[in-house]
Formats: sequence, structure tokens, C-alpha cells
Amino acid sequence: MKRSILFCVCAVAISVTIISCSSSKKVTASGAATLKEAYKKDFMIGAALNSQQIEEKDSNAAKLVPEQFGVATPENIMKAEIIHPQWGTYNFDLADKMIAYGEKHNILINGHTLVWHSQLPAYARNIKDVDSFKTFFNDHITTIASRYNGKIYSWDVVNEALNEDGTMRRSVFLDKLGDDFVTEAFRIAQKAAPNTELYYNDYNIEQPKKRAGAIAIIKKIQAAGVRIDGVGIQGHWHLNKVPLKEIEESIQEFSALGIKVMFTELDIEVLPRNFQGADVSQRVASNPELNPYVSGLPDSVQQQLANDYESLFRLFLKYKDKVTRVTFWGVADGNSWLNGWPVRGRTNYPLLFDRQYKPKPAYYKVIALKTNAASGESAKKPF
Ligand code: G3I
Repeated sequence: MKRSILFCVCAVAISVTIISCSSSKKVTASGAATLKEAYKKDFMIGAALNSQQIEEKDSNAAKLVPEQFGVATPENIMKAEIIHPQWGTYNFDLADKMIAYGEKHNILINGHTLVWHSQLPAYARNIKDVDSFKTFFNDHITTIASRYNGKIYSWDVVNEALNEDGTMRRSVFLDKLGDDFVTEAFRIAQKAAPNTELYYNDYNIEQPKKRAGAIAIIKKIQAAGVRIDGVGIQGHWHLNKVPLKEIEESIQEFSALGIKVMFTELDIEVLPRNFQGADVSQRVASNPELNPYVSGLPDSVQQQLANDYESLFRLFLKYKDKVTRVTFWGVADGNSWLNGWPVRGRTNYPLLFDRQYKPKPAYYKVIALKTNAASGESAKKPF
């Protein structure tokens, strides 16, 4: 009896401590470290940065990013239309700033992306002659990858080359170069950037058919004797529908190929949408029913979001020997691309930090997984 009273008193005391810590806006509920510190023995934690953040014009992000994240991906500024806007004309201004930002704050940089059908400038899409296209392809990868060799940690060499059924996506790359273009991209990148890790990156590749397509691509690269260091599962998922089983199978199957597994563009959509993935060409007309949380997120949804993130990070931790990085696609809700896609002008809440850059309940759950693990509690939670 005495023991149970003592237990209750302790439990209340611990709860009060947690509540008072979070209400006094400490970053963590229990004095634990920030994301990157809490997970430093497990995997890197990163965020995609927009140009305002790279140029440190966003004062909230300027403080928060170096505290919370050890690795960053440029959300847009290394894509072809920005870095290579005219044939033979490169604009390295923002990309160089990204490198300087990483050096200043001791943040590793993942380059994104050398080969992608989207955000490709019109001149490249309109090249008719195969040899000219090969010249563009080779020059583009070589020029950019060699400039940043040894300065950035890794490259998403090829992005989103697959259809949902695992076949190769129709693109100017496939049309002009055939399906060897992926292997060739890695071959060129390997030569230009021998000191940089090289990854294949795509969305929905946790799903069985598309996963099989990704595995085929990776095996083909490996069979050609070309280096591929890892695969990025983007991780654009939906509230209450995070495909944990498929994610677990994917970690097992991809890591069995001898490569690193990363979650490279993580966010959880809380607004209505009737399809999965991140195909930027898909658009839906605006409608108030599709934008229900303009004045704030209901507690039940906030809680579900926190639970979804907790389940995901518990799974990532289970495979911490295989998962090397988890990167969020954005820093805080206000700058997420999901406010503008697939419906323009919505108020979305997919990340761990809110519009004021304050940690959300999901953040505390993710941090608590490490705090509880330290006290042995996580072992009791079945996955
Ligand atoms: O820079 C122009 C600006 O000059 C112009 O005034 C403005 C008007 O709309 O557009 C700006 O460009 C926008 C660009 O983001 C930079 O903000 C484009 O319209 C917009 O389409 C573009 O969206 C990006 C999208 O990729 C485009 O493909 C998102 O920010 C970016 O988050 C998203 O990222 C992709 C990953 O690279 C690959 N995986 C899927 C992921 C989400 O779609």
C-alpha cells in the first residue's frame, strides 16, 4: 500500500515537472537535448532549408536550425532551373551560400538534386538531339558535383525516376538516354565527386511495387560496378495512415543491398487529400472544405500527429543500425511546401515546429522516446 502511494506521488511529481517544463517553453520536456543531440548516437536529423533560411534572413530559423539539426538539404536552390538556368550558365550564388552556412554552423549538406525531371529549365527539356542531350547531362552533373566535391556530404544524384508501379517514369532523361540514365548519372557523379556519398531518392518507394522498382535500379547500378551509397525514402505521409509495415519492410530490403537507408523529406499531411505521394504535377482546385484548420489545429488532430511521429521514430530507432538520417521537409509549419500543394493557399501543420517556430506536442513525443529509452521504458512498448 505504502509503495503504491509512493509510486503515485512520484508519478504526479514527474508529471508536474514535465508540464511545468513544457509550459515554461523549454525546448524539451525533461531537460533532454535538442533533436540532433538526443539522436546523435542513432542517426542524423536534418531539415530542408529555403533560401531565406540559407541566407539567415529568417531570424527564427537562424536560431533554431543550428540548435536542432545536424544536416540540411537545400529545398530548391540546387535544382537545375536555379543552378543551371541557361545552357552553360551556372548560378552558384545560393548554393555557395548553403555551403558557407553549413561550414559556419557545422551542419552537413545533402545536395538536392542532380537529375530530376521537374524544375528542369525549358532549354534542357527541349533539347532534340540525343548527343546534345548527353552533353548537357554530362556537363550538368560534372560541373556541379565536382565544384562541391569534398564540400558537401552527399548528393541525391537521381530523384523520382519511378512510376507508382515500379516502371521507369517517362521523362526527357528516359526518352533521350534510355533506362540506363540512372546508372550513367551515378557513374558521372562518382567520377566528379569521389568524396561525396551518392543516393537514389524517391517518394512512395516504401510501397511494394515501387520499392521493387527502386531495388531493381539499385541492383543495376551495383551490377555495373558503379557506387551507390544509399537510398532516400522521401516520407511524405498522411495523418493516421503512416505505412509502418511497408516502411519496416523497406528498411530491411534496402539495407540488405548493402546501402544506407534514409528518410529524406519527412512530413505528415494533416489536411484532406485523396492520393498519396509528392508528384508536383498533381494539382487540386481550392475549396474551403479542403482547408479546415485555418484558425488552428484541433487537439485531437494535434495528438494524432504526435502519435504518428512517435510511432515512426520508434520504428526508426528499432533500425538505428540501418537508418543513417532523418530529414524533415521544412523547418516549421509556416514554410512547408504542403501549404501550397496540391491545393494552393492552405494552412497545413505537417512538421514538429509550429508557425512561431515553437515545438509542438509531436516534438516532445519524439524527444521523449529518447528520454524514456534512457530510463529503460521504451523496452516495454511493443512496436
Ligand atoms: O522561385 C519562384 C518565385 O520566383 C516565384 O515568384 C514563385 C511564384 O509561384 O515561385 C517560386 O518558385 C517556387 C519554388 O518552389 C520556390 O519557392 C515554385 O513555384 C514551386 O513550384 C516550388 O515548389 C517546390 C517543389 O519541390 C517544386 O517541384 C517546393 O518548394 C519544394 O518543397 C518541392 O520539393 C520536392 C523535392 O524537391 C522532391 N520531392 C518532392 C518535394 C515536394 O514536392
